[in-house]
Amino acid sequence: MKILVINGPNLNMLGIREPEIYGRATYSDLVELISAEAERLGIEVSFFQSNHEGAIVDAIQGAYGTADGIVINPAAYTHTSVALLDAVKAVGIPTVEVHISDPDLREGFRKQSFIRSACIKTVKGKGFDGYLEALRMLIEYISNNEERL
Ligand code: DQA
Repeated sequence: MKILVINGPNLNMLGIREPEIYGRATYSDLVELISAEAERLGIEVSFFQSNHEGAIVDAIQGAYGTADGIVINPAAYTHTSVALLDAVKAVGIPTVEVHISDPDLREGFRKQSFIRSACIKTVKGKGFDGYLEALRMLIEYISNNEERL
């Protein structure tokens, strides 16, 4: 099973960026944490981070035919991007939306998520562990769907 983990804008600044919200651990720490869990779970993970909306659209499209599932933290594009929503719908790959913080408990403009309606689940407010939960959810979802084929 192959899972693509996508992180959107400013998540490369983890560790530096608003540590009171996102913590002191870095993007590399996040990649290490997810890679270790993937190894334990016996799945393959690849990573993509970009600050550019179109590049993330390209990454989602590139997952077509190559990834079984997507974990995505679209960051600020969660609240603005119909293009990311359309990309997930276009490829039809099971996708879990992750947020390190809980955007619903922050400013009002963070309550809107365009991508959410195309995702099988949303995990929010659980820090980096949310990504691990998302991996496990995808494995369960994909395995159940395979059984039905
Ligand atoms: C975020 C929440 C978003 O509102 C914000 O724009 C981010 C990070 C999170 O992981 O908590 O950049 O997606």
